[in-house]
Amino acid sequence: MAKVKNIAVIGAGQMGHQIAMLCALGGYETTIQDLQEEALKKASVTLDGIMDKWVSKGKISENQRLAAFERLNFTQSLKDAVRNADFIIEAVVEKLEIKKEVFSKLERLAPSHAIFATNSSTIVNSMLAGETNRADKVVNMHFFFPPLVMDCVEVVMSEQTSDETAQLTMEVCRKINRSAFLLKKEISGFVANRILGALQREAVSLYEKGIADYKDIDQICRKALGHPIGPFELMDLSGIDVGYFVAEQRYKETGNPADKPFACIEEKVKQGHLGRKTGKGWYEYKTEPVKQ
Ligand SMILES: NC(=O)c1ccc[n+]([C@@H]2O[C@H](COP(=O)([O-])OP(=O)(O)OC[C@H]3O[C@@H](n4cnc5c(N)ncnc54)[C@H](O)[C@@H]3O)[C@@H](O)[C@H]2O)c1
Repeated sequence: MAKVKNIAVIGAGQMGHQIAMLCALGGYETTIQDLQEEALKKASVTLDGIMDKWVSKGKISENQRLAAFERLNFTQSLKDAVRNADFIIEAVVEKLEIKKEVFSKLERLAPSHAIFATNSSTIVNSMLAGETNRADKVVNMHFFFPPLVMDCVEVVMSEQTSDETAQLTMEVCRKINRSAFLLKKEISGFVANRILGALQREAVSLYEKGIADYKDIDQICRKALGHPIGPFELMDLSGIDVGYFVAEQRYKETGNPADKPFACIEEKVKQGHLGRKTGKGWYEYKTEPVKQ
């Protein structure tokens, strides 16, 4: 089985920067790429802060922190990021056309042996593999938010994904200290998000029908069902836009009216009320004023 040494992560957003940090901590030479300089700067500052906390809590040593940052590179150039990559994790925005464009560029720029893994929350890898000449080396590698905390990865094979690709992906998960679960058949949304989606759809539908206030629905889920966080609170945490794009994509695929994004969610996205990251979603969040 080929050996993975160099990993490239494409997209330095909420998911990408933390996935890249996991890879660097796991001993891989890691490059993170984003089109936006701002996203790379933010990623670097955020990771510095999180790793400082990890050191002060004794989760890692100062030497481990330094070594991981030595292995972590940031770039805006896709060409530089993937030139020597053995394994590429795509974590750009959840839009099929953008992901397709990235995969077709990767096919041109990455070594022929490199594996292409997508962190998409819903898009199955066979929808992207057509942009490449290596469908056997394309796989889903679905992390959960926030990746530095959540110890779970769904690895999903298409009919064309080879066993070797699946095993190498599982091996990368082991090395970066994440529990991985192999799904041998594709299905949009995989396991966790299908179950979560069913819960969130029901919660939003109860709210839209005026049965209960969203705050009460959150509290009922916490108190009666023992959930650690309510469905609306969770939407705020992971980004209301992320769930919206997932629903939009699934609706495009199935045409099933039950999959159509809810009007109240669409409105929040249009207003830019995306949850914690914008300071307002279902709830309001106090953010520290930016120090000048
Ligand atoms: N947020 C979650 O809870 C979550 C969980 C699991 C998986 N995912 C998946 O991870 C992926 C990324 O989600 P996110 O929440 O990090 O989104 P995000 O919007 O925070 O980040 C996306 C990043 O991709 C960058 N980008 C866009 N187009 C690009 C391109 N062509 N090349 C390079 N960079 C590009 C953007 O500048 C941005 O920094 C999506 O596919 C999403 O479905 C998200």
